[in-house]
Amino acid sequence: MSVQYRKTKCTWCSFIMFTISNIKFLDYLYRKLRSVLYLFITILIFPYQAFFLSKANIKLKKDYSRVDILKILIDKKDSDMNYLEIGCDLNQTFSKINLVNKYGVDPIRGGNIRKTSSEFFKDNITSFDIVFIDGSHLVEDVHEDFINSFNSLNVGGFILLDDVLPKYEINTTRRRFTSVSNQDAYKIIFFLNQIKHIEFYYLPYDHGLGLVKKISNENLKIFNFNYGTYNFKQFIRNLEKEKFLDIKELKSLY
Ligand SMILES: C[S@@+](CC[C@H](N)C(=O)[O-])C[C@H]1O[C@@H](n2cnc3c(N)ncnc32)[C@H](O)[C@@H]1O
Repeated sequence: MSVQYRKTKCTWCSFIMFTISNIKFLDYLYRKLRSVLYLFITILIFPYQAFFLSKANIKLKKDYSRVDILKILIDKKDSDMNYLEIGCDLNQTFSKINLVNKYGVDPIRGGNIRKTSSEFFKDNITSFDIVFIDGSHLVEDVHEDFINSFNSLNVGGFILLDDVLPKYEINTTRRRFTSVSNQDAYKIIFFLNQIKHIEFYYLPYDHGLGLVKKISNENLKIFNFNYGTYNFKQFIRNLEKEKFLDIKELKSLY
């Protein structure tokens, strides 16, 4: 009887293990097929992009990643600081953050809080020293994440925004259909330009990052902002007056 029980238990264990490994494999396969399809579409639309769409004069450097930049920011603070990451996916970044107090919010996978960022902020009472915003890249979601993060940020704290420096207009469509897609997260700059009590810098690394420093304890009120009136050409023109930092400048900033 007991032997039979053990056998059944083992069968269930193997079934569960088999299913888990297959989910991982199917996920891997899905991602690979998606990249091939995206690459194919990118090649197809290349002539259209080259002749009709705008291109920003930005060189994104790959020698430092978002993880390296977060580590530089963390080094500037003490080790018992609070870190929040919005959008964790496969924990590519979250797993490399060596802090005890780290909060990773994602409704699907990764991190340690299974919620959307809106749900998380509804009852959050923690204040943070560094927030990495990398969830939904639609500008209205980035806007909401930014306001909520800013109002939970300690004075002197940083917000790092991902995907805010797109090079090609084709990568800024709201629906993702190219292998590199920044959606319209870049439009957040038009809102940031209206806020007086922050410092903002572009960091031309990885997928194109933006860094905000909170310099006073004044919070932001949730208010609507009409992003519909802004476009990629205005973004390119605006770049001329923005400050870009390289790693050396970032390290010696504060
Ligand atoms: C680009 S990935 C994050 C990558 C990760 N931060 C990294 O450094 O590699 C975007 C993630 O955001 C998550 N996401 C989408 N909408 C979200 C939301 N409203 N709140 C929190 N996370 C969200 C997705 O599930 C996905 O895992």
